[in-house]
Amino acid sequence: MNSPVRAYTEWDLLEEVIVGIIDDAMVPEWHVSLAATMPTAQHAFYKREGGKPFPADQVAKARAELEGLVKLLEAEGVKVRRPDRQPFAKPIATPHFTQPAGLYAAMPRDVLLVVGEEIIESPMAWRSRYFEPLAYRRLLKEYFHGGATWTAAPKPELSDALYDRDWQDPGDDGEFRSVITEYEPTFDAADFFRCGRDIFGQRSNVTNAFGIEWLRRHLGSEYRLHVVDVADSHPMHIDASLLPLAPGKLLVNRERVPVIPKQFKGWDVFTTPEPAIPLSHPLYMTSRWINMNVLSLDEKRVVVEAGDEPMIRALKSWGFTPLPCPFRWFNSFGGSFHCATADVRRRGELKSYCA
Ligand code: ALA
Repeated sequence: MNSPVRAYTEWDLLEEVIVGIIDDAMVPEWHVSLAATMPTAQHAFYKREGGKPFPADQVAKARAELEGLVKLLEAEGVKVRRPDRQPFAKPIATPHFTQPAGLYAAMPRDVLLVVGEEIIESPMAWRSRYFEPLAYRRLLKEYFHGGATWTAAPKPELSDALYDRDWQDPGDDGEFRSVITEYEPTFDAADFFRCGRDIFGQRSNVTNAFGIEWLRRHLGSEYRLHVVDVADSHPMHIDASLLPLAPGKLLVNRERVPVIPKQFKGWDVFTTPEPAIPLSHPLYMTSRWINMNVLSLDEKRVVVEAGDEPMIRALKSWGFTPLPCPFRWFNSFGGSFHCATADVRRRGELKSYCA
């Protein structure tokens, strides 16, 4: 069978992609796991609004931008799929925890990890995201029937044992200290990216060493999993720190990656321009470095935020073809084009690109 799921890189020609939906987005309940990752300026918002819907006018603007992204991708020849709406407003209860609500199905990159012909549901560390993979089950069942390998990593308990209740904020310049323990394996797919046989990942406040080791053994000897040392005191997701755009071309946030990992020896290293996103723009879940969270459609075409002139100029000067798309209101919810998508199929073979 010819698997409908197949991706070995972040840059081979994109044929099919899942684009998230912002409908029913709920504010997660305040918890130490949020304190470790969410912008300090937003902590009061979570304490006040946890368990309630995100502001409806902002959701509507983000939804319109998502529709714009879908149109752009389809016009570029990409098949676009969408998850199903879920009752995120309903409370969650398991034997180990309760939550007033879920989160959203806006960021498939966090939930689904495609490596080769396999699609893996991540064992995510946030309680509000416990049932989020169900938004993708219709698609996952279809891909399985079509010949893909479908795996769910061990479902975590997410009991109090996973969280370090004594966690103290290291500050912006301090040493990363994870808010999660090694009680059980957890990871978000967005803490990893693919470069053929080399997969890169980071430890973060949602991905522990146990989760990385689970993935390493699961992927087996066909792949080499490298852990990147990222200078981020509140890490959650690697794709605002470093991201390969094409073979031999790496986009890097120099504030977070002062030393390029040795596997990229011989690659062109492009420094992410300073974010252009206005300081006054609400960003509930991410830093302004979300400006580098672009999506490569192939080795040339890159989807980039329409208002981000410095990034558009930089991409042109590096020889890419930027495809501008308005996405600032979607950014407010924690991601940009890379986060809002999950590559289902990119044309290309399994090769080595790294030293
Ligand atoms: N958590 C990442 C950042 O804030 C996306 O830059």
